[in-house]
Amino acid sequence: MKALVLSGGKGTRLRPVTYSLAKQLVPVANRPILFYVLDNIIQAGITDIGIVISPETGEDIKRAVEMYRTRDARFTFILQEAPLGLAHAVKISRDFIVDEPFVMYLGDNLIGSGIGNFKEKFLYENPDALILVKEVEDATQFGVVEFDQEGKVMRLVEKPKFPPSNFALVGVYFFSPAIFEAVEKLTPSWRGEYEITEAVQELINSGKKVIAEYLESWWLDTGKKDDILEANRVVLDEWIKRRIEGRVDESSVISGRVSIAKGAIVENSEIRGPVVIGSGATVRNSFIGPYTSIGDFSHVEDSEIQFSVVLDGVEILGVKGIDSSIIGKRARVVGDGKNRIKLFIGDDAVVEF
Ligand code: DAU
Repeated sequence: MKALVLSGGKGTRLRPVTYSLAKQLVPVANRPILFYVLDNIIQAGITDIGIVISPETGEDIKRAVEMYRTRDARFTFILQEAPLGLAHAVKISRDFIVDEPFVMYLGDNLIGSGIGNFKEKFLYENPDALILVKEVEDATQFGVVEFDQEGKVMRLVEKPKFPPSNFALVGVYFFSPAIFEAVEKLTPSWRGEYEITEAVQELINSGKKVIAEYLESWWLDTGKKDDILEANRVVLDEWIKRRIEGRVDESSVISGRVSIAKGAIVENSEIRGPVVIGSGATVRNSFIGPYTSIGDFSHVEDSEIQFSVVLDGVEILGVKGIDSSIIGKRARVVGDGKNRIKLFIGDDAVVEF
């Protein structure tokens, strides 16, 4: 069995951060989202992995995958010239998949469990598609699955205005090679994309076996700012262990599950977990509150920050009360030491107040 990871696309909803960073590389607890995707695939014993990339961010994805460093998997990069949809990504990957079953995993989806059980179920039941669903409050942002009275998958619709159910499609799909014939029959949808939902519908219409499994764990589609903050919160909450490898002076207080990487320095500060601080970062005379990640080589001084994602090389000086913020690489935020602030700023931004 092979895997196909979709890491192309546009990422417009995460601008400004994704002007310069592929959305699959936005860090959650200081690790790119894509790394959690690869962890899950490799842990399920799938080692032949194709990664669909775009001309704009493909080189960055390649570099990140090199840094992921594993001997357990083989990666093949597949260039998608334009973001023409998930089914288009499948279509152009045919030479890589050839005639094997595969799992297609969206590179911006984070789930709280592994995929090994779903893989087993897929191999045992041998359908042409196994899709994962999860109940959500607002299904208009997702592919939506409608079941018949016996619980069989009847219909799939992409981002409907009036969802026929609350079962959203999670971005992990298992396919037999029959999907390639289905995608050949598609025409672009109203939003100009070849939709994978329509390809699965095509399988159903032609009498192929399509089954759905309910995902019990949490699931986050990291499409928007609040999704990233929520993903950061959940991952810090569930997966971060206390690990102090950097240098912490005696006047600092570190409480709860805090990870301070090698080469980081904390002086005269309070860090209240869950928090991660990257290597080479410095924190001085500051308070870092729960659910915050501070990227590598960032510098926080005379400041207070909580529930935020700070990327690499950022400078935060004299800012009391940064909350629910995403701060892009190398941004510089300089405050007057009094005002509170909420930010969503891209790489190299400068904010002074
Ligand atoms: O997250 C689950 C949802 O993902 C499903 O419920 C929807 O049915 C499915 O269409 C998809 O919707 P999104 O609007 O969230 O898809 P997005 O455009 O964000 O693309 C998902 C991933 O696939 C993302 O990592 C970018 C990549 N991608 C996307 C397109 C359109 C590609 O690699 N190539 C593409 O052409």
